[in-house]
Amino acid sequence: MRNLAKIFVILVVMFSFCLRGLSAFEQWNNLSPEEARTIVKLLDDVYKYYIVFDTINHVDNPDRVSAATLTKQVFKEMEKKGWHSARLVSATDKALNKENMPKDEFEKDAVKALREGQAFYEKTEVIEGKRVYRAATPVPVVLKECKMCHPYLKDDEIMGALAYTLPLGQ
Ligand code: HEC
Repeated sequence: MRNLAKIFVILVVMFSFCLRGLSAFEQWNNLSPEEARTIVKLLDDVYKYYIVFDTINHVDNPDRVSAATLTKQVFKEMEKKGWHSARLVSATDKALNKENMPKDEFEKDAVKALREGQAFYEKTEVIEGKRVYRAATPVPVVLKECKMCHPYLKDDEIMGALAYTLPLGQ
């Protein structure tokens, strides 16, 4: 009898963990713009901290892969997993890689707004019939080391943006 009670308790605990997993998954698929904004702010801090620390470490080894290239690789994997898509966008016409020039209206408007001093640019849009949340944050020339590879930029200039797209509840 006692063993049966134990098994019952274990089953209830296991079931409740499954439910918790499920509800977290459903929540992600039904994001509100406010939740999407919080996620973007969290991701943005993570990406920017490692970009800065990785760049500082470049001082000794300029031949290493740039933080920009690394970040683009991570973006690709994040997109494959369905978490979000993101682009590193140039805010000047001096992009090292032309692929990083603003592509659509959102990216062009975002870069303009960020260069004019806006700290965060966001919009909800419908793309291919799906509601999405889009946000862009500024990438300034934060360190003198940035100019090792981007020599034509001014100090503190907004040289780029990180542009995120997350799916919203329909
Ligand atoms: C070791 C060289 C190197 C350093 C240092 C470096 N970058 Fe870059 N950066 C690159 C390369 C290479 C690309 C193009 C990567 C690609 O698209 O694959 C790039 C691309 C960019 C872009 C997209 C626009 C463009 O030029 O294509 C931004 C924005 C950017 N870097 C910001 C920064 C910032 C901010 C820093 C300093 C924190 C920095 N970079 C330091 C090499 C560097």
